Amino acid sequence: MQSSKPLRFVFLGPPGSGKGTQADLLKKQHTVCHLSTGDMLRAAVAEGNEIGRQAKEVMAAGKLVSDEIMVNLIKDNLTKPECKDGFILDGFPRTVVQAEKLDEMLEKSNSKLTAALEFEIDDEIVLDRLGGRYVHPASGRSYHVKYAPPKVAGKDDITGEPLIQRSDDNPETIKRRLASFHKDTVPVAAYYKKQGILEKLDAKRKPQEVHARVQKIIETRL
Ligand code: AP5
Repeated sequence: MQSSKPLRFVFLGPPGSGKGTQADLLKKQHTVCHLSTGDMLRAAVAEGNEIGRQAKEVMAAGKLVSDEIMVNLIKDNLTKPECKDGFILDGFPRTVVQAEKLDEMLEKSNSKLTAALEFEIDDEIVLDRLGGRYVHPASGRSYHVKYAPPKVAGKDDITGEPLIQRSDDNPETIKRRLASFHKDTVPVAAYYKKQGILEKLDAKRKPQEVHARVQKIIETRL
């Protein structure tokens, strides 16, 4: 169901909680741009540009890239024409400073977030999900050997190109990414709760069940 009002969502959640998967499902039904800061950074690293050079080691260590880089990246992309009818911010904001800067950007364009969706899931499930994840680097599409297998093993469903495992999807780095999430990103949920726009969802459920919950949130919030 497509609404006439723009959908402006922030997806908050630990690594592997299904933010990218749900953004892909939502894009099929709503006119929104999908800004995944992780995908943007990986593209910058692959291109070898200045942002990529600064982000490469930080990402490999499972730490957070600086607020300054991230805020500028979102600022540059949020004003693009494809984002004027709505957006999903997948992986941004990840710190309270980023959330405050996003509010400033939105105020300048007289717009507001529809809601911030908090994907709730236990750390052990994250380890299982990321251990079996394969991605198509060019599009960011992700698969799972058990939960979301591609039609042909090791190949992207749309292009047939090879799938890879992300270099930060190893147990040690996943633990560090989870630690960053608990320290820096959990307070962002409290920030949005105070604004009355936080919606929690049970991210342990099957992708279509989580999607149904996201649709319900849209019905009540738009
Ligand atoms: P990023 O790429 O954003 O990684 P992440 O937040 O760790 O999230 P993931 O992409 O790992 O997981 P996801 O929630 O999208 O899950 P997915 O849908 O793929 O960031 C990478 C790095 O960039 C960061 O560590 C940091 O260094 C840097 N960075 C990015 N943004 C930043 C920022 N704002 N500030 C500072 N630094 C930043 O699903 C995972 C797997 O589970 C898949 O295999 C999928 O098929 C499967 N799955 C999904 N849903 C379900 C389900 N319901 N049931 C069963 N399996 C499922």
